[in-house]
Amino acid sequence: MEHRSFGGTRIDVPVIGMGTWQTFDVRGRDERDRRGVVEAALAAGTTLFDTSPMYGRSEEVLARVLEGRRDRVILADKVWTPSAEEGRAQARRALAWYGGVVDVYQIHNLVAWREHLPMLEDLRARGAVRVVGATHYQHAAFGELMDVMRGGRIGMIQIPYNAADRLVERDVLPLAAELRLGVLVMKPLGSGRLAGRVPAAHELASLERFGVRSWAQALLKWIVSDPRVHCAIPATSKAARATENAAAGDPPWFDPDIREYVARLAARA
Ligand SMILES: NC(=O)c1ccc[n+]([C@@H]2O[C@H](COP(=O)([O-])OP(=O)(O)OC[C@H]3O[C@@H](n4cnc5c(N)ncnc54)[C@H](OP(=O)(O)O)[C@@H]3O)[C@@H](O)[C@H]2O)c1
Repeated sequence: MEHRSFGGTRIDVPVIGMGTWQTFDVRGRDERDRRGVVEAALAAGTTLFDTSPMYGRSEEVLARVLEGRRDRVILADKVWTPSAEEGRAQARRALAWYGGVVDVYQIHNLVAWREHLPMLEDLRARGAVRVVGATHYQHAAFGELMDVMRGGRIGMIQIPYNAADRLVERDVLPLAAELRLGVLVMKPLGSGRLAGRVPAAHELASLERFGVRSWAQALLKWIVSDPRVHCAIPATSKAARATENAAAGDPPWFDPDIREYVARLAARA
């Protein structure tokens, strides 16, 4: 698995991480099952996990599943509330779950970012957070996200980017590269919809020389073939898919012509 570092922050991440929205909001037998998903991910080199208080029980389930293995993992969490006081309570809970450190602490969808930034900067100054960042999933919010990026107070962003949703290529990714910000990619499989629209086998045959064996791998390799991206975070509830997705994190990378070919398949699918 290839690793990339965020400019200036010296945080080293695998190019394929894992999201937990919906997939880790579980209890009982399903929680035991997710332990197998995390084991498969770790065995394949996927050592970054992204969660949020917005994802129901996911934060807590992820913490339990990682017990005894926290030091092998880069933990990306979020603060998500309009209230500064509740934001502090979310951070207290997260730090208790994750052994006193959240590696990457993001403001979810920029909610009340002016209120939460000082709290996260304080945690960073005390060594409880390594990188402060911000996320947004809506195209309409990219203007505000870029204002926050230019403000110089965050070290990374999390944005949607895949072969069928390329708006970030216009302004957001060039700015992130210029400012040397870390870039995590949400919804890399279009929240599953894009991954489900599989092209014909003969259309994927030309990707085999890149080590691609499935459409999901083609979609993931498409994203991390962009050197401005540090880590894509596909979510899955299945151990075999954690292994499959991680395998997209090794070179060779797609060249521009192959990227356009995959984007055409994605647009048509
Ligand atoms: N605003 C924000 O900050 C924000 C917004 C959205 C997402 N996120 C983050 O980004 C992460 C990823 O986004 P996402 O969860 O929306 O969607 P995604 O990763 O694009 O897609 C996940 C879906 O794809 C399926 N899948 C996974 N691997 C597959 C494979 N190899 N083949 C076929 N299907 C596969 C999964 O189903 P199975 O479980 O059946 O495998 C799941 O339904 C989230 O979990 C979250 O951590 C952040």
